[in-house]
Amino acid sequence: MADATRVLEPERWGGIQEGGRGAAPADASLAALAGRRGLLYGAATKERTLRNDPQFAAAFARECAILVPEYELKWSKLRPGPDRYDFGSADRLASFARAHGMRMRGHTLVWHKALPVWFDEKVTRDNAERILRDHIDTVVRRYAGAIHSWDVVNEAVRLEDRLPGRLRRSPWYDRLGPDYIRIAFEAAAKADPNARLVYNDYGVDYATRSEGRKREAVYGLLQNLVSTGTPIHALGIQSHLRGWERRFDPLELQSFLRAVAELGLEVYVTELDVSDQRLPATIAERDAIVARVYEEYLEAVLDVPQVRLVMTWGLSDRYTWLTEHRPRPDGQPVRPLPLDAELQAKPAWRAMARAFSSAADRGGV
Ligand code: G3I
Repeated sequence: MADATRVLEPERWGGIQEGGRGAAPADASLAALAGRRGLLYGAATKERTLRNDPQFAAAFARECAILVPEYELKWSKLRPGPDRYDFGSADRLASFARAHGMRMRGHTLVWHKALPVWFDEKVTRDNAERILRDHIDTVVRRYAGAIHSWDVVNEAVRLEDRLPGRLRRSPWYDRLGPDYIRIAFEAAAKADPNARLVYNDYGVDYATRSEGRKREAVYGLLQNLVSTGTPIHALGIQSHLRGWERRFDPLELQSFLRAVAELGLEVYVTELDVSDQRLPATIAERDAIVARVYEEYLEAVLDVPQVRLVMTWGLSDRYTWLTEHRPRPDGQPVRPLPLDAELQAKPAWRAMARAFSSAADRGGV
């Protein structure tokens, strides 16, 4: 396996990249098609996947202009101990991005999940702010200049918790109250004044009562952050879509995104995928429905000029969190992403290509 680890070192890229081109649909790539409209397209991936699957690494390098670590910049990976950091995997992803002239996103500095096992015992009301500031300062400074944008705070809104501002009862909220959000953004801005700072959340896509109320709550949080001068530059909408969901109203979603843009914020689609968990069994039928959802959603959001970035949460059905988290009842492999498990373009790839090509030009990225 020692040789395989070298696959992430720049000098190895030539051969692998040429080897991967055979799988390319025509000579276009989603990165190139998006780039022609001043959009950035990329995907989430894991360092271990790129290291162990050179064919996938080549497809990733071909299709993506930006990468986001699916796991490697989370506390549970970065922080093996209260006084220890392990940047190995994240550094290798950063060198992969650099070796391919790719940008890189940071995900995520503050989340209620993926906290290290020592967190509950070691982080108290008294030391939480110091620990949070130290973490953000150390991590953001390390990658300063290399990160396009940081998901500073992830999923801080949860209607069901009925807290003021509809905030989530998270380990950070319990220790610092709502101020943890401002603290995190200010610490990130100090550590890397050039990175765009993002609030990231899910469940704001559909014309349902609960997602409508979540849009209101997220908008309220953003309005509060902007009005109090918190350094925030964009809203990240995760966009984990459901292929069977009919309640999608492009105008309602666009109205929300335009209101966010009115606050002076950009909008990033940060984790796009389309679950086929409850779709019919035949692959052709499933793929067609998934493609239609991609195209309809992207046409809707790309109609808003402040939407500047589209990331899928994974690139190929070979590696998706949905295999484990949204498996099909019939046990068939899930098919939520633009490339199939053999790294071939699916109808979803072509749907994304059409949506990028028909988007208005945003100018420079
Ligand atoms: O790497 C370790 C491995 O060494 C260990 O043997 C194994 C034992 O469980 O765990 C491995 O780490 C796993 C990691 O993914 C890397 O594969 C973690 O357990 C697992 O919890 C982690 O899951 C990730 C999850 O976030 C939690 O961090 C998923 O891959 C990732 O797709 C998912 O992504 C989230 C976004 O961050 C936020 N939005 C929702 C999205 C989907 O849940």
